[in-house]
Amino acid sequence: MVRNAKEFLKKLEELKSKFSESIGKINSIKELEELKVKFLGRKGELAKIMKALPGLAKEDKPMAGKAGNETKNWIEDLLAQKKEILEQTEMSKPSSFDHTLPGREIWSGSLHPITITIQEICSVFVSLGYEIVTGPEIETDFYNFEALNIPKDHPARDMQDTLYISDNILLRTHTSPLQIRTMLNTKPPVAAIAPGKVYRRDSDLTHSPMFHQIEGFLVDKDVNMGDLRGTLTYFVQHIFSKDTKVRFRPSFFPFTEPSAEVDISCVICNGTGFVGNEPCRVCKQTGFVEILGCGLIDPKVFESVGYDPEAYSGFAFGLGVERVAMLKYGINDLRLFFENDTRFLNQFLDFPV
Ligand code: PHE
Repeated sequence: MVRNAKEFLKKLEELKSKFSESIGKINSIKELEELKVKFLGRKGELAKIMKALPGLAKEDKPMAGKAGNETKNWIEDLLAQKKEILEQTEMSKPSSFDHTLPGREIWSGSLHPITITIQEICSVFVSLGYEIVTGPEIETDFYNFEALNIPKDHPARDMQDTLYISDNILLRTHTSPLQIRTMLNTKPPVAAIAPGKVYRRDSDLTHSPMFHQIEGFLVDKDVNMGDLRGTLTYFVQHIFSKDTKVRFRPSFFPFTEPSAEVDISCVICNGTGFVGNEPCRVCKQTGFVEILGCGLIDPKVFESVGYDPEAYSGFAFGLGVERVAMLKYGINDLRLFFENDTRFLNQFLDFPV
């Protein structure tokens, strides 16, 4: 029984020497944990001594309480030091590390084939002096339609099944709004390339509600169809091969005049229409596949961005990225691009991030 402060302090001293002796015999972390409970636990040795505190003389209580705390800290310090030593020796025990285990496999990511294709296409145009521009996927009617000479109720709006957010706000249906955005804040001459996601209410084997386009356009003095044809031929032969043929077919877009659709000779069947004895599924035996729409920029578009149509002319084109990627990598199912199946994506590991 502890009756006074002197006896209280004596008990603490005895506890300390008992602890010193015990900790010297400890050889494992498990034993150390047990020792900690024995001395510092709720029903441990120190707690037992501290129970006497309320019975001490009032004037002795602060001093005794302090001594108790110091003892506790002293024990905790020794426990921590010992723990560190034990951890080090346990780690260096030969049995605890198996040097024959195989290393962990390191997973590296790769670029998505669509990203690779966008980068390759853009780099061809950057090498020709084009600047890369981007813009919002949520557009207003003005940029997506109005300024591109597609007024409300114009039948051309039906060509693009628009996903509307409100009367005036929509998901862009093509990258052509980037023509407007760029021209509005750049004085001619301008040459830009604009990659991005576009959205249409369309979903089946060959259409996805979200896909990628690259818009390209150039405005300067005396730009003509020959420039457009030369530029696109250069581009196609750099992305595919020197032998790839380019075919222009007359078409219609409200923002270009004249307009054309461009086909390239099918790279899957080399334009023959057959893969072995099988009819080519990609070009449906025609030997050609469409990859883009283009034309000379309509003077109406120049008017809406404040360019003088008398002084300047230009061309524009809009290219389907998925289509190009399918042809480039021989992929015959559009959905593979959006499923993120790693068995598909791992085939592009040659293009590390
Ligand atoms: N914006 C058109 C489309 O999405 C493509 C295009 C772009 C045509 C530029 C001509 C000029 O179909």
